[in-house]
Amino acid sequence: MTKKPMSKYFVTCARGVEELVEAEVSALGATSTEKVPGGLYFEGDQDTLYLAHLWLRTGNRIFLPLRSFPCRTPEDLYENLSKFRWETFLQKGLTFAVDCTISGRKSPSLSHSHYAKLKAKDAIVDRMREKTGARPDVNAEDPDISIVLYIRDGVCTLNMDATGASLHERGYRAGDAQAPLKETLAASLIQLAGWDPNSTFVDPMCGSGTLLAEAALLATNTAPGSLRERFLFMHWPDFHKPRWEKHLAAAEAKRVPLRKGQLFGMDADAEAIRQARRSLKALGIGDEVDFSRKPFGDFLPPAGASPGLVLLNPPYGERLGDVEELKALYKSIGDTFKQQLKGWKGGVFTGSSELAKSIGLRATRRIPLWNGPIECRLLTYEMY
Ligand SMILES: C[S@@+](CC[C@H](N)C(=O)[O-])C[C@H]1O[C@@H](n2cnc3c(N)ncnc32)[C@H](O)[C@@H]1O
Repeated sequence: MTKKPMSKYFVTCARGVEELVEAEVSALGATSTEKVPGGLYFEGDQDTLYLAHLWLRTGNRIFLPLRSFPCRTPEDLYENLSKFRWETFLQKGLTFAVDCTISGRKSPSLSHSHYAKLKAKDAIVDRMREKTGARPDVNAEDPDISIVLYIRDGVCTLNMDATGASLHERGYRAGDAQAPLKETLAASLIQLAGWDPNSTFVDPMCGSGTLLAEAALLATNTAPGSLRERFLFMHWPDFHKPRWEKHLAAAEAKRVPLRKGQLFGMDADAEAIRQARRSLKALGIGDEVDFSRKPFGDFLPPAGASPGLVLLNPPYGERLGDVEELKALYKSIGDTFKQQLKGWKGGVFTGSSELAKSIGLRATRRIPLWNGPIECRLLTYEMY
């Protein structure tokens, strides 16, 4: 059997989630991983790339770094990009876009990313015109081929975006939810809190239902990427459709139905419950999830359910509510965990260390994670 060529990829993620992403890509066949804040390099073949797009729950976007070159002037950029064989990548009729970020020590003639982007685009278009006689179209919003340049301290790395829209865009989210979690972060929280996907899961402040939807994807062994139609690697010249379809079919075959009486969602707000129901419905899930509109003050563990995980993302004053008012709510979370949830695991994800103190319970772990620009903590509890 011929060995398939290996490539080095880079997958981005929320800061704090790198280890989970490493475990996920390693389980999918990746080798030689190297973590950096907000991402991870890994080596893999084409199967690894396809499997990562199907099965990754915690990573956001995968890039193929193609080459690096010294780049201090616009001319360096133009010349080096003109040497690349774009005609093999940009097949007839495909649109493209270039994105460019400049950081670190910037040289005076190459300090504006917008200008660098225009120069790079010129190099690509000129090369294509020379080699093929045709000019490829740019589509900045929704390109078929997305070229991402990072210029740092006078060195440019040329990357191809394998993913396109971030993997967190699973496609089930409904409505304009208030302060929803990113889907990939929600999946990370569930795994970090140590949920066994065969056990009970409760989110007593479910909002638009992101944690419940991700728990449902885990419990049903659904590959999140199977919900999407398109990834940008599908436009690459080496895209092997039968191989992708084989992995997709294998993923479909692994899906199992959701057990009724396993997932429970509550919220004080009726509109939140409606949104959560819609998200789950988009996953083909209806009555299997038990929803009820109730304030946290009325919380009781679901009758008859065996102990599992209660995970919640209460408001923390940055965007919703007010810190002083919320202290009582956080204290009631601690009291409820202690009094009502013996034998259960608990998890609270919050961006306020002050409010976290009001929970008043000793956490087994305090895991720092970034929710966009906000440094947050996942506090986990074991109630004996
Ligand atoms: C930050 S949002 C949760 C977002 C959710 N994780 C998502 O991804 O959509 C907090 C939720 O807590 C709910 N909430 C706030 N105070 C509550 C209380 N006392 N009882 C029940 N729900 C409450 C809000 O209605 C809101 O939906």
